[in-house]
Amino acid sequence: MKQWTSEERYRPFKEADREELKALHEEISKSKWRTDYHIQTVTGLLNDPNGFSYFNGKWHLFYQWFPFGAIHGMKHWYHVTSEDLVHWKNEGLGLKPELLTENYGCYSGSALPEDDTLWLAYTGNSKDFDLVRHPYQLMAKMDKDGKITKLEKPVINPRPEYTEHQRDPKLFKLNGKYYILEGAQNPEKKGVLLIFEADAPEGEYKLLGELKVRDFDDFGYMCECPDIEPVGDKWLLLFSPQGLEPEGDLYQQKFNNVYFTGTLDIENLEFIPDGPFKELDRGFDFYAAQCANQNQFENAAVLTAWASCPDYTYPPTDEEGWANLLTLPRILTIEDGKLMQRPVPAAKELRGELLFEARKGTIISNTLRGLMPSSAIIELTNPDLASCELCLFADNGRRGFEISYDRNTKVLTVDRSTMINKVNEEYGSVRRIALENGLSSLEIYVDHSVVEIFINGGEYTVSSRIFPEASERVIRMGGSNIDLLIWKPVKAVEDDFVI
Ligand code: FRU
Repeated sequence: MKQWTSEERYRPFKEADREELKALHEEISKSKWRTDYHIQTVTGLLNDPNGFSYFNGKWHLFYQWFPFGAIHGMKHWYHVTSEDLVHWKNEGLGLKPELLTENYGCYSGSALPEDDTLWLAYTGNSKDFDLVRHPYQLMAKMDKDGKITKLEKPVINPRPEYTEHQRDPKLFKLNGKYYILEGAQNPEKKGVLLIFEADAPEGEYKLLGELKVRDFDDFGYMCECPDIEPVGDKWLLLFSPQGLEPEGDLYQQKFNNVYFTGTLDIENLEFIPDGPFKELDRGFDFYAAQCANQNQFENAAVLTAWASCPDYTYPPTDEEGWANLLTLPRILTIEDGKLMQRPVPAAKELRGELLFEARKGTIISNTLRGLMPSSAIIELTNPDLASCELCLFADNGRRGFEISYDRNTKVLTVDRSTMINKVNEEYGSVRRIALENGLSSLEIYVDHSVVEIFINGGEYTVSSRIFPEASERVIRMGGSNIDLLIWKPVKAVEDDFVI
């Protein structure tokens, strides 16, 4: 693997780099792990989703991007757009570090559409000569033609009462006021959420204080990527706390992404939760989720996340010069007090040719001949499902990516331990979920190097990266009385070079 010098890692994009990146893109676009319908990095490394919003008749999404290789380095924002949250178009560079206040990267942030402007709030990761970090919260505005102009002056300067970890502004508007919710670390090295208020989006943000969650105060040593969204008559508060210890089957990732549902009392800087926080996803690779600032879906939020986690590596694609992708956008609703996550409605359009059909356990049509396609959409239903199993990318003697359900224990197990390419095994290769109400359905989105599972119509989700080799190509299905359908997905994300 390439050894990166600090100059190579902290290099901002310049026009003269275009040819180099084009060559890199040409190489990586040959990879068998590039996707058909997941937003993936154009080159180099992708991490958090940023600036997710509906503006000027389209969905806009940016991602944290290091252009030059599969390593966390100088972060830029890369811009993609969509009409339906399913077909995505590469638009090119969004933000690049050029100010002194962002000399070590344009870090994560959010967007607020207002009239003809999309306001982008983000963290300027700046370092001084001694490499001491000074986090500024910066603002830029995008017009209807997609032109982005930065405001030179930070909207929030580093706060001396907190450590150097102050970042990831979530900009939102409530009762005519503008707020920024920010992740920070206090001097006792505890993760906290800060709330700032201003009269105008680019105004003077004054610190109101910490947003407290009633009866809960232990969020690890840092809260990254906070987000707050109304969902129906409730609020959804989400963030990525660092330093949670695993507890049984929970919090198995190195860092996890959690949410509370409840009520926001902005006057008293208090969030009154309906209960303890829960994990947004129960899989292997999920972090830094962000909701779109949108008015297209009523009583619901639209969310996407980085299908990975800080400090994880994926040697199969890292060695090819690229890393990471985002999860499919999901619609979030709160039903009977429970957060439900489903693929966005237009995800139905991803279903192309029907490759396999079994009804009540009887095969009706089958063109698979036992072979697992590199990308597929799988739906398994049965209102009173017995035990069942699905082995994707199996091989002689290897069980591949195995999803199984045991009716007696009501436990669903996802096991990637027998795959040839193992990644981040120190955080476990098996996930278990106890399904209180048993299993009634699975909707599985497979796309070359990622699998997303929606359980019981969105009661739980499991996201996982996988890197199947050409020899891992068998699909095995077991279970009685099930309805099982498998489609070939249509291509919804072009792998084109736009910078
Ligand atoms: C989360 C994170 C953010 C930060 C960004 C930098 O993955 O560490 O807190 O803004 O990534 O790329």
